Amino acid sequence: MNIGILTSGGDAPGLNAVIRGAVRKGIREHGFIFTGIRDGWRGLLEDDMYPLNEVDVRGLSGRGGTILGTSRTHPYSDGGPEQMKKVMAERGLDAIIAIGGEGTLSGAARLANDEGMPVVGVPKTIDNDLDNTDYTFGFDTAAAIATESIDRIRTTADSHHRCMVIEVMGRNVGWIALHAGMAAGAHAVLLPEFPVSYDQITAWVTSAWDRGRAPIVVVAEGFVPAGLDEAVSDKGLDKHGRVRLGGIGEHLAPIIDERTGIETRSVVLGHLQRGGEPTAYDRVLATRLGMASIDIIAQQKWGWMAALSGTSITHVEMSDAVDRLNTVPQERWEEIQILLG
Ligand code: F6P
Repeated sequence: MNIGILTSGGDAPGLNAVIRGAVRKGIREHGFIFTGIRDGWRGLLEDDMYPLNEVDVRGLSGRGGTILGTSRTHPYSDGGPEQMKKVMAERGLDAIIAIGGEGTLSGAARLANDEGMPVVGVPKTIDNDLDNTDYTFGFDTAAAIATESIDRIRTTADSHHRCMVIEVMGRNVGWIALHAGMAAGAHAVLLPEFPVSYDQITAWVTSAWDRGRAPIVVVAEGFVPAGLDEAVSDKGLDKHGRVRLGGIGEHLAPIIDERTGIETRSVVLGHLQRGGEPTAYDRVLATRLGMASIDIIAQQKWGWMAALSGTSITHVEMSDAVDRLNTVPQERWEEIQILLG
């Protein structure tokens, strides 16, 4: 069998480990051959690909980014499925492993279920927002980078007796903020799933300050405060109703400064959280998911993806992983609140 592999959507630490795991297992156990597709669906639509062998994946488990490149090209653009089927036939591709997040896996599920294409998936996202898999690779690394950054920001905040607002990624969910905020001992943790008021944020900041601490506020990029001003909602929200990327930290800092009288600055961690080497946990998870994608292909379970359940790797239908977002549950919110302030 000739297997095409593509990585699509935002990159995540661990993508290269998936590629290595899949290629090694596929070659060693089944004698498959592999084709690396450049820049996600774009490469399949435009026939931009190259042979991928064991040597190409050597030493990849710890390398950040993706050797294949990525893009946000939609599989239904530019001629869509028909064009991809044509390219697959010309190239002799028997199956596609699509490694991606919600957008990629929804597209891949449609290609398999509606168009009958031999596509399997591997879930990827630093946001950890996919359902039917306990964790996605990339999340542990992003949370670790955010934690280390907050630790560093804390020493400068302590020295200057300032409040610091640290904005982390996560799109519409608060997993990175929750884990980094808990690991770094933040005084306020603000999640999209649980809007809190300006009064509550001010209370947490003031309580930390009154105990002689430089207040640390960790805010997920998708957080929108309860009671957001009309003026802000006019120009500060994107089309999904989120405060714009890079916006919420900057929005909150002057409000906290004004309400508490504590000098407050904001930092956006941004793409730092996606860059560089994956943690050991993400390397292992990504490698195992990559290897499992080969089992799924060998069983011809088109439309299925590898997933994590507890400590086991399982197979689930891709459509089930994208049906609903994996949001932070109420019990995790109640748990962190005890630590705040
Ligand atoms: O989905 C991963 C993610 O990093 C989100 O946390 C963030 O909202 C988005 O991608 C940023 O996308 P881009 O790299 O296209 O700016």
